[in-house]
Amino acid sequence: LAAAVQTVRVGGARAYDVHVGPGALEQLARAVGGRAALVVLDAEVERLHAERLGALAAAPRSTVPRGEAAKTFATLEELCERCAALGLGRDGVLVAFGGGAVCDLTGLAAALFARGIDWIACPTTLLAQVDASVGGKTAVNLRAGKNLAGAFHPPGCVLADAEVLATLPSAERLSGLGELAKSALIEGGELLERLEQAAAGPRPWDEATETRLVALAVAAKARVVAADEREAGPREVLNLGHTFAHAIEHAADYGRVPHGVAVAAGIGLALAAAERLGLACKPGFVERTRALLRALGLPAGLGELDLVPPLDPDVLVAAMQRDKKRRAGRTRLVVPLGPADVRCGVEVDEAFLREVLAGSRIR
Ligand SMILES: NC(=O)c1ccc[n+]([C@@H]2O[C@H](COP(=O)([O-])OP(=O)(O)OC[C@H]3O[C@@H](n4cnc5c(N)ncnc54)[C@H](O)[C@@H]3O)[C@@H](O)[C@H]2O)c1
Repeated sequence: LAAAVQTVRVGGARAYDVHVGPGALEQLARAVGGRAALVVLDAEVERLHAERLGALAAAPRSTVPRGEAAKTFATLEELCERCAALGLGRDGVLVAFGGGAVCDLTGLAAALFARGIDWIACPTTLLAQVDASVGGKTAVNLRAGKNLAGAFHPPGCVLADAEVLATLPSAERLSGLGELAKSALIEGGELLERLEQAAAGPRPWDEATETRLVALAVAAKARVVAADEREAGPREVLNLGHTFAHAIEHAADYGRVPHGVAVAAGIGLALAAAERLGLACKPGFVERTRALLRALGLPAGLGELDLVPPLDPDVLVAAMQRDKKRRAGRTRLVVPLGPADVRCGVEVDEAFLREVLAGSRIR
């Protein structure tokens, strides 16, 4: 089945369109529209996909380090200096062509240069297509923590081309599936059902299946962020699985467990927390969620991360105690109770967290 490009509008003070599907990048030249542009990408995306830039292949490029190494003040400064050297004015545009790291960095450079210029996000990983390129959050990392210096600066448009995902390494794909599973649980309905069907079916998914899933996940995130552009409250649902996930990534020295995989394990732990608290989950939901995660090849708890040696519970608990969202010494969790039924602000203490972590080691 041939897949067509689908367009999702993200509302808010500055609304923008997300074009999802095979060939979405063909719209890049039109989106730039003759403005002076700088393309930001890493060497791997350049090697694999530079020819997809079409007319923009002739535009100046800045090649930045791969992954988190791009999200530094040094790279941000270099990028801004490059914009200045090219003489980019307020009507200039930056094009982010890469994963979530390149999108976060480029979006922040666009927020800062000349007090804010336009940028176009061309996310090339599944995680960036379903999550990082939608919502307007941009950032670099500080020594004190990830994403601690950033700005809200939505792109002018997003071009999420399904064709570039064909070259994604399996660990990166799995990471995107973790965020996709999170979206499906928050959204329920068609997205959850389609993801369950796809998880049970053959791989790799065809472009039509993948495009529909990405478009539905983008629409789901768009609804949440449009209602809470600056993360004042309702966006908290998007943190499902993330309090545990950030602790897992920290305890695993960042890199050993991809972000979305940690999110999946975190969702499993949040479910375990809901069960232990005696919160009324929809009948069968706990089993259904664990089955979905496992069918996608994701862990549904700590034991399934299969890390040797296993993560140290003391380090995990200490990391959760540093969580930005803590209040009065208690950790705030987001827990799933059913499809499209997520409870935020569930406060728990250290002893409770230790019980949940201990229980999750056993399959
Ligand atoms: N702003 C937000 O709302 C938001 C949301 C979620 C995540 N993020 C950020 O996103 C980042 C993670 O993004 P990510 O998972 O996309 O990882 P990434 O950007 O680090 O990219 C991962 C790797 O995949 C490679 N790659 C990219 N596209 C490829 C392709 N098509 N084929 C082959 N290889 C390809 C890259 O070279 C890189 O080595 C984190 O920094 C996270 O903080 C931001």
